[in-house]
Amino acid sequence: MYKINDNYLKLPGSYLFSTIGKKVRAYKAANPDRNVISLGIGDVALPLAPVVIDAMHGAVDEMSKAETFKGYAPDLGYEFLRQAIADNDYKARGVDIAIDEIFISDGAKSDSGNIGDIFSVDNKIAVCDPVYPVYVDTNAMSGRTGDYIEETQRWSNVIYMPCTKDTNFAPEIPNEEPDIIYLCFPNNPTGSTITKDELQKWVDYAIKIGAVIIYDAAYEAYISEENVPHTIYECEGAKSCAIELRSFSKNAGFTGTRLGFTVIPKELKSGDVSLNSLWARRHGTKFNGAPYIIQKAGAAIYTEEGKKQTAEQVAYYMNNARVIRESLTEAGYSVSGGVNAPYIWLKTPDNMTSWEFFDLLLEKANVVGTPGSGFGPSGEGYFRLTAFGSYENTLKALEKIKAL
Ligand SMILES: Cc1ncc(COP(=O)(O)O)c(C=O)c1O
Repeated sequence: MYKINDNYLKLPGSYLFSTIGKKVRAYKAANPDRNVISLGIGDVALPLAPVVIDAMHGAVDEMSKAETFKGYAPDLGYEFLRQAIADNDYKARGVDIAIDEIFISDGAKSDSGNIGDIFSVDNKIAVCDPVYPVYVDTNAMSGRTGDYIEETQRWSNVIYMPCTKDTNFAPEIPNEEPDIIYLCFPNNPTGSTITKDELQKWVDYAIKIGAVIIYDAAYEAYISEENVPHTIYECEGAKSCAIELRSFSKNAGFTGTRLGFTVIPKELKSGDVSLNSLWARRHGTKFNGAPYIIQKAGAAIYTEEGKKQTAEQVAYYMNNARVIRESLTEAGYSVSGGVNAPYIWLKTPDNMTSWEFFDLLLEKANVVGTPGSGFGPSGEGYFRLTAFGSYENTLKALEKIKAL
């Protein structure tokens, strides 16, 4: 008789955004006349930039002719895209990444979940608390996190690194030694970042204890301050201890289009085993490539016009972030984030729990946000708003929140 992977049964509740979706659908069904504005899930509002659409149209035409038709993509992704990434995301920042250290994928969510395939189940992970839920849940699915303890809302075999006001929303080196360290900067959900010197400390620590860092840089395009690293490989020695995840979702609006990549430098080794080879094997076996049309669309954002158009989109969202930050501050909320990230992290008023504030906001202001506690126990008492809405909706939502 077959057996299921019963690690799935240990997962608490449903995925955060499904719970939010259910609550919002129920509210809308009961109040069909209300216009509910979502500043909840990190999905973008702007359409794809014209250069991206043109590239897609061109690629669709190529697919229609025998001479230019493309079937399966190369395992690691098309060279034209990997070269554009190596030149623009790395070389332009003084970092040398070879094109066979770049693996094109359908996005950072899949990569952050799948990367665990190449690591033993015996590894102990360390995560920020609060954290993007995918890191913990996917490790739980593969049996790496122990048991979920309802009272503490923590897994028994995970090292949590609280990121609170006291730590300036950044993690501190944990007392217990992890094997795999997940870091995400600019951060979802807190919108915080760390300086290059601070990130260097993590790289030095990982090298010292023989840990690997999985560095999620999905929000890199939102960095506005000078001393914030755009890639972990700006740090000395990072190539021997870090994997970097990137996404086209937030810098170019590919949330529905799907494109991302993972960088695994060849220097990254466990004994004599190269993690790059393991991932190449995994990628080639379990993934059949992002579509040619989408890879062409992705390459278009690295052209001069593409850089200009996507920078305008990022600026549009960061203007929303400014509006949210300033309006909330004016209304007396304690707010962080929103400077190098499209997320604003606020303290709930009057010691409300995150879900109490969620309900209040939905019912009284008809605005949807994300309860901080959904990202981990240290997120309790906090709330996340995203800058990814339209400007008009952002203004309307903030007027309503201010009037509460
Ligand atoms: C930290 C982080 N990583 C990855 C992702 C997912 O990116 P993608 O759309 O490329 O799968 C998100 C999406 O919200 C995210 O917040």
